[in-house]
Amino acid sequence: MVRVFLKDDNIVVKVPSGKTLRDIANKTGASMEFGCRVGDCLTCIATVTSGMHFLNEKNEKEIRALEILCTDSHNLRLMCQCSVEAEEGEIEISYGF
Ligand code: FES
Repeated sequence: MVRVFLKDDNIVVKVPSGKTLRDIANKTGASMEFGCRVGDCLTCIATVTSGMHFLNEKNEKEIRALEILCTDSHNLRLMCQCSVEAEEGEIEISYGF
């Protein structure tokens, strides 16, 4: 299980590999906001302050969207495009950037 800390809501949850951040937000009642849910609107942008390597790889759509937004997007993700991809680890996320 991977420990996910949603800093803005002070929520900690342990999830299995494959769990999406949308599922985590829905299940925990986190205040993370979603709009389009397909990587177009950037509403769900978040800063991964640790554990980025425990998430899935950014897809091309996400990479392009984040590059348009800023030049250094290495710790940014679109939560609607993210899932946990590890058996163990810790991830910390803050909403926004
Ligand atoms: S909800 Fe629109 S980009 Fe994630």
